[in-house]
Amino acid sequence: MMKVLRAVALLGALSWMVAPTGGSAADLEAGRRKAEVCAPCHGPDGNSTIPSVPSLAGQPPLYTHWQLLLFRLERRVDRQMLPFAANLSDADMQDLAAYYAAQTPAAPRGTSDPAKAAVAKRLVKMHHCDSCHAPGLVGQQHIPRLAGQHYEYLLKQLREFKAQTRAEVDFTMTAAAQPLSEEDIETLAHYMARLQPTR
Ligand code: HEC
Ligand code: HEC
Repeated sequence: MMKVLRAVALLGALSWMVAPTGGSAADLEAGRRKAEVCAPCHGPDGNSTIPSVPSLAGQPPLYTHWQLLLFRLERRVDRQMLPFAANLSDADMQDLAAYYAAQTPAAPRGTSDPAKAAVAKRLVKMHHCDSCHAPGLVGQQHIPRLAGQHYEYLLKQLREFKAQTRAEVDFTMTAAAQPLSEEDIETLAHYMARLQPTR
């Protein structure tokens, strides 16, 4: 219960901080400069080539902004990522989020195993993944794009949501991961990693 209350309080704080009427407009050029330190891991254009590091290209700006805030608050914890979020201002986060949203996600490598893809499509419908993550799993608002993301990264995140160890803004994804078996998680990650990232 405390967990839920804290999540709700955080959500309130976040909605206030990124309310569209408050704050100044994001600066894409500033975002490009600020993203230079991120490039060794996340790739020069936000397309990571490291399987454990997520691609950020084409991610909804609100999602990137909120994740950076969760890292800065040390709610979401990752040894490699934390030092790079610790000193970001709210304006930095807004600029970075806008910059990455404007980059084109790279085409996925390889195609899905047809049998796995068929099972994954049924799982997506059954668990309503696409009603939150949008048709084609391209993401919207504070909900991430999954299509074309790295397999290894997706696997780790789904396992963490299921184990209730990944912090999030509003607990909805932790709830959504509870009915998934380890086999479901592997099948979904296989499918999503090979899904075209554009509508
Ligand atoms: C040393 C490597 C490294 C550097 C440099 C780095 N990151 Fe990360 N970043 C990571 C890793 C690893 C993760 C995944 C953490 C996990 O497994 O949960 C991550 C996750 C993220 C996420 C969450 C993405 C998602 O899909 O949830 C965002 C946003 C992000 N980084 C932005 C940045 C920004 C902006 C910078 C530069 C200011 C940066 N990172 C620098 C390694 C790095
Ligand atoms: C009720 C809405 C909802 C449903 C249903 C849902 N998700 Fe999510 N998902 C979210 C939200 C919100 C986040 C971002 C959580 C946060 O705040 O960190 C997320 C995050 C994720 C992430 C992390 C991606 C990243 O870049 O770190 C994965 C993977 C994911 N969802 C997969 C799925 C799959 C697979 C399904 C269906 C089995 C699903 N989701 C169903 C709302 C949902």
